[in-house]
Amino acid sequence: MSVPDHGARHVAIIMDGNGRWAKKRFLPRVAGHRAGVEAVRTIVRAAGDLGLEVLTLYAFSSENWKRPEEEVSDLMGLMKRFILSDLDEFAANDVKLKVIGNWRALAPDVVALIENALDRTSGNKRTTLAVALNYGAQDELVRAATAAAATGAITAEAIEAHLDTADMPPLDLLIRTSGEVRLSNFLLWQSAYAELYFTDRLWPDFKPADLAAALDHFARRERRYGGL
Ligand code: FPP
Repeated sequence: MSVPDHGARHVAIIMDGNGRWAKKRFLPRVAGHRAGVEAVRTIVRAAGDLGLEVLTLYAFSSENWKRPEEEVSDLMGLMKRFILSDLDEFAANDVKLKVIGNWRALAPDVVALIENALDRTSGNKRTTLAVALNYGAQDELVRAATAAAATGAITAEAIEAHLDTADMPPLDLLIRTSGEVRLSNFLLWQSAYAELYFTDRLWPDFKPADLAAALDHFARRERRYGGL
């Protein structure tokens, strides 16, 4: 696949601000998450149009279990509906689904849904949508280092080969919406040389033009990987 003009192959997004989006409209938080799912749909399509190979989205962190039970159940429900209802859309747009994080520990019905979606989309080639579910970078690193140790020396290469993202191109650009400036335990290893881009836009308001602007910003950066 040829690399598009902006030069990025892999973009990740911390989708933040659903709650504030809803609050501004005097709506319940779940309405913000629902609007967040709509933004996911639009941005996945845009990622393909903009020539990205992989779009990784932070959908549910290993820390999100601390939220009220009702919100956790709303988020899981939205996720299940998204995976079910968008299978045709994935096929139409040639999107391969991937899930990173400790997703096999989720409820059996969610695991079964995911396995089916992974299987159904495994032949798609244009864009990979990697959804981070029950994901925490420290947990990922512990798992990767443990697996590396079991096979020999713990080297950077061995750890990298056991990360959830092992089969993906290196992360080029990490975006966080809603004005918060932190990584919140997302892709800590993969961010070592990624460009970081923070925008005040709340996630449900994040549009294809915002993704294009972030990629434009990326295209103008000079990446030195520690050199001069
Ligand atoms: C952060 O907003 C968002 C989340 C914790 C969940 C993100 C989930 C989605 C966009 C929906 C499902 C995703 C997929 C891939 C279908 P927040 O609630 O922390 O917002 P706040 O900081 O304004 O309260």
